[in-house]
Amino acid sequence: MKKILEHLRKMGVNSKHLKFLNPNWYQAAVGGMWDEIGKLQFEFLIKEGLKPEHFLLDVGCGSLRGGVHFIRYLDRGRYYGIDMEESLLDAGKGILKKNKLGHKKPTLVEMSNFNLSSLGQDFDYALAQSLFTHLPLNSIIKCVMHIDKVLVKGGRFYATFFESSEGKKHLDPVMHPHTNGTEFATYFDRDPYHYDFETFKWVCEGTGLRVERIGEWGHPKDQKMMFFEMM
Ligand SMILES: C[S@@+](CC[C@H](N)C(=O)[O-])C[C@H]1O[C@@H](n2cnc3c(N)ncnc32)[C@H](O)[C@@H]1O
Repeated sequence: MKKILEHLRKMGVNSKHLKFLNPNWYQAAVGGMWDEIGKLQFEFLIKEGLKPEHFLLDVGCGSLRGGVHFIRYLDRGRYYGIDMEESLLDAGKGILKKNKLGHKKPTLVEMSNFNLSSLGQDFDYALAQSLFTHLPLNSIIKCVMHIDKVLVKGGRFYATFFESSEGKKHLDPVMHPHTNGTEFATYFDRDPYHYDFETFKWVCEGTGLRVERIGEWGHPKDQKMMFFEMM
């Protein structure tokens, strides 16, 4: 079933259609591993110092795989999630209702242009889990330029990425291990994208941000972690 759904998605069948084929379509649409990757991102940000009173921006929050944990933990009104797919945000709202978390009053906004200033809020923490892995470089730059406008001083934007550790001259696919024992490829110029970490240092030039590589953080599909910090 998983393979069929992946194939259909590659053929352009989107979340709106997937829901008629699979009741867990909103999990498949963000890559599955719902419990594991939901908890992983939550526990990671807690270790990185996220407190209930912080304002958190979840960029490309999808159907709230991580969001449901953050919303439960954060004080009322402190969670903001943006995503370009309205159907995923709607599925997330359903999950919040089921978990009786509506009183936490999260802000969920459909947006594809990363116009984050329009949210009218500055953030202590931001997260892009499995977003840059699907984005070409210019979209990443756009996202980071908007993040540069909405992080408080000392605020951090954590982002996962597939790494190419062989430098910018390496244009071939990079193979990555999956914890299920298989391997998969990422690409220089198509989804799923990989990047040389030096690229992100260049992206920060001329902004108020610096970037630091964290690297391995326990992701089952070899996504690495970094953060952009407002200086
Ligand atoms: C693999 S999913 C991850 C979702 C969520 N972060 C999680 O961990 O479950 C990537 C998400 O990024 C969203 N996305 C991709 N490009 C985007 C853009 N330009 N603006 C907003 N969201 C975007 C997709 O709609 C999708 O929900």
